[in-house]
Amino acid sequence: MASDLTPHVRRRRTFAIISHPDAGKTTLTEKLLLFSGAIQIAGSVKARKASRHATSDWMEIEKQRGISVASSVMQMEYRDCTINLLDTPGHQDFSEDTYRVLTAVDAALMVIDAANGVEPQTRRLLQVCRARNTPILTFVNKMDREVQEPLALMDEIERELGMTVVPFTWPVGMGKFFGGVLDLRKDQMRVFTPGEDRIAGTEEIVDGITNPALNERFGAAYEQAAGEIELVRDAAPAFDEAEFLAGRQTPMFFGSAVNNFGVQEVLDALVNLAPSPSTRTAIQRTVEPDEAKFSGVVFKIQANMDPAHRDRIAFVRVASGKFERGMRMKVVRSGKELRPNTVVTFMSQKRELLDEAYAGDIIGIPNHGVLQLGDTLTEGEALQFTGLPFFAPELFRSVEVADPLKTKQLRAGLTQLGEEGAIQVFRPILGTVLLLGAVGQLQFEVVAHRLEHEYGVKARVTPARYNVARWVTCDPADGGDQELKRFIDGNSHRIAYDAVNAPTLLLEYAAELRAIEGNWPKIRFHALREHA
Ligand code: G4P
Repeated sequence: MASDLTPHVRRRRTFAIISHPDAGKTTLTEKLLLFSGAIQIAGSVKARKASRHATSDWMEIEKQRGISVASSVMQMEYRDCTINLLDTPGHQDFSEDTYRVLTAVDAALMVIDAANGVEPQTRRLLQVCRARNTPILTFVNKMDREVQEPLALMDEIERELGMTVVPFTWPVGMGKFFGGVLDLRKDQMRVFTPGEDRIAGTEEIVDGITNPALNERFGAAYEQAAGEIELVRDAAPAFDEAEFLAGRQTPMFFGSAVNNFGVQEVLDALVNLAPSPSTRTAIQRTVEPDEAKFSGVVFKIQANMDPAHRDRIAFVRVASGKFERGMRMKVVRSGKELRPNTVVTFMSQKRELLDEAYAGDIIGIPNHGVLQLGDTLTEGEALQFTGLPFFAPELFRSVEVADPLKTKQLRAGLTQLGEEGAIQVFRPILGTVLLLGAVGQLQFEVVAHRLEHEYGVKARVTPARYNVARWVTCDPADGGDQELKRFIDGNSHRIAYDAVNAPTLLLEYAAELRAIEGNWPKIRFHALREHA
């Protein structure tokens, strides 16, 4: 079905960069922004990073919240496309948000440090992409350093991440002898010249990857690359768009972000290969991006600058239709009407306030708690999008109040922070102490700070002995609620209920989980719970 909106949808690309800290995400982001002319934003990306390095103190981070809201979505124009780049926070501010952002993108760009190969955070983020069949492009960075051999890297990515790698470029040499990349599809070599401020499109190009001039000029490095390409051509399958779109094949590019080398090729590949926004699934029906009526889903909530006002910004991914400033929207869960006049724009190079947005775009709606994580917004239709995941926490803390008279405030504060997705809260069956669960350490600091400053509760947050959590269910065919009750009764010392009363098994060691899975074959153990 094509409509007036179809051209707007087709020209949109919404993606995130996933990488391990220090692989070069910030550098690459800045270079990508430079291509689109959004130079002033590039500065703020660096500023944010600098602030992160300076301190891990939450007070300081809070001061940076303004910057972090602004840089969490960056919109840019490139060729005839509008590109939305969503930030996936790393370092200390790694949190559940990081995972959830990946539910709002249509593709991901994976940055690998060529010296370090596949690193833990990349692996974690990639698992989330794989679970959703998100197409992935791979950029192997830092070729100007002494790094691993490209064949070894390719092998590692395939083995560790379970994707077939299809090289689009291949490096000639590395480190001091990095000569450039052979472009296997355009049949040319782009010659590397170092320099941070080098303008793209000015690099030397030699036609023909078998051109004898290349052998004369780059000698052994070229010969090695040519030999490797032979091997790769025999072993690797041809690029297959359907396989790429299903997240099973990843095109691989080599370059050096800091030298602005290989960056434009990746951006071009993103425009050429990454999908535009497509159908989204709601409980009631599927929703096409070019339908006339607006719909969207809240995938992230961020507390705003001023704690006294308890302002939050809800990040909404537009799923269909057209958003216009001042339009009426319905929060399907509560039936409340919303008419936001101030909507945060993420394209500061062009306009201050957002006027319109289409499927794939992200809008930020300031509110005082009207919007919750997973909420669907429509022009009136009762739709509920599915698939906003909650991830099993990997870190746990006990939380108590110093002053028992404040117990009510503690519960109220934790409920709200839980709705925002700042933390997960569990009530163990035995005992009265609440447990907090997170995937990033900073989540605890943020919660303790906000409980004190926004809810007037001094909380005592102490280490808990758990390290593994799994939501438990039992299919009706396997005994359903009765079998689940038997399991819960038999394990009550390690069962807790989460914010929506879903029973959760809490364990100290992963090995225990395997034993319990063996003993209870009818029970299903989930590392991910979807918001319904
Ligand atoms: P991140 O956001 O993924 O954490 O990484 P970031 O871009 O900050 O890059 C981490 C470090 O790697 C930075 O150095 C950056 O300059 C460097 N880097 C990025 N791309 C390349 C590359 O292609 N080649 C080389 N040799 N280095 C690269 P830093 O010393 O930590 O910071 P800075 O003071 O240079 O900004």
